[in-house]
Amino acid sequence: MLRVPVRRIEPGMVLARPVPYPNDPYRFLLQRDREIPMSAIPQLEKLGIFDVWVRHRSLEFLEDVIDEGLGQRQREVYWQVRRNFEEVMSGASLGLDISDFQSAISNLFDFLKQSRCGNVLLDKLDSFDCYLMSHSTNVCYLAMLLGMKLERYLIEERSSKTPQQAKNLKELGLGCLLHDVGKMKVPDEILNKPGRFTPEEREIMELHPVYGYEMVKGRVSPTAAQVVLNHHQRYCGGGYPQRVDVATGDPLPTMQGKQIPIFCRLATLCDVYDAATTKRIYHSAKPAVQVLHEMRTFCKGFFDPVIEQAFYEIIPAFPIGQVVTLSNRIEAVVVDFNPSQPGRPKVQCLRSATGETFQDPSLEEIDLAIFTDIEIVEVEETDVRPYLATQYEMELAR
Ligand SMILES: [Fe+2]
Ligand SMILES: [Fe+2]
Repeated sequence: MLRVPVRRIEPGMVLARPVPYPNDPYRFLLQRDREIPMSAIPQLEKLGIFDVWVRHRSLEFLEDVIDEGLGQRQREVYWQVRRNFEEVMSGASLGLDISDFQSAISNLFDFLKQSRCGNVLLDKLDSFDCYLMSHSTNVCYLAMLLGMKLERYLIEERSSKTPQQAKNLKELGLGCLLHDVGKMKVPDEILNKPGRFTPEEREIMELHPVYGYEMVKGRVSPTAAQVVLNHHQRYCGGGYPQRVDVATGDPLPTMQGKQIPIFCRLATLCDVYDAATTKRIYHSAKPAVQVLHEMRTFCKGFFDPVIEQAFYEIIPAFPIGQVVTLSNRIEAVVVDFNPSQPGRPKVQCLRSATGETFQDPSLEEIDLAIFTDIEIVEVEETDVRPYLATQYEMELAR
């Protein structure tokens, strides 16, 4: 199967995965194994569905690699969050129903543990109309996956707990799911503003962790509440919210380094990554390779280096299933992730430089780690050449 942007659907393409309704995880808009009617395209775009998985000869093995169950669990978490947040926003409910979230997180966590899904795949929730909910679900999933990779570090950093408690990630998941809940109290015109904030608007926006903390305090564990309050703290200092001395009201220096609880450090990084890779009303989605480059350059020092390193090992610069253009102008699909050479994955060629389709892409496989004179130059119409150097540096650093 192959992931195809909705605008590039061609007549005759058959769905490899059903397309769920964005607002109902249990109902499908289009069924698996059916040809996609061209007339459905405007509707898909209107609903904020940007990509679909279609059948592709000889790429069927991707069906096993990209686990369908994971997407379903993520949608279930998303739906719990969405239903609950909407009730609070409409005034139908006075508070968040935490028990609903807890069971959805438990399901997702148990699934991640047993599926041993090692790295992040090209199957992330995207939703135009409900950014807050899809973003919260993505951060929850990413942080739990990253936490699973860092079990030893968690035991070390949370030394007051038993090892079993230290690596229990359900509180992390809950904190991440609720991390931006305070944004419900930020006016929409600030929240959705396309340009830069004025200093006053920024001040209001930066209050969202405090608003969120007030909403969840006493309803969730202090560990999860900490994540809500401190998910914008930078490892090098200088994040927000500003701390104040309770007695005098004077500002205190911001937290930094290991003063910041480890779950907050995990959430900070996953939050930045997901926000940047998500399509928003005011910016298109950036490819992973671009966001990873920006994190390593513009965000230098923001993240705990141990967590950051582990993150680069689970987040492929070119996720499996992504369609890319090579420097020889061949269009290809990424079929493998090699953490030791993240900028040079294995690809299978789909279309020649002159536009002819390769009948069997598996016969046209190129390992870019071997054929180093060929590189990936374009992803989803973005020229990625400026971002490759940071990927190649990672190889040298090993
Ligand atoms: Fe936030
Ligand atoms: Fe966020």
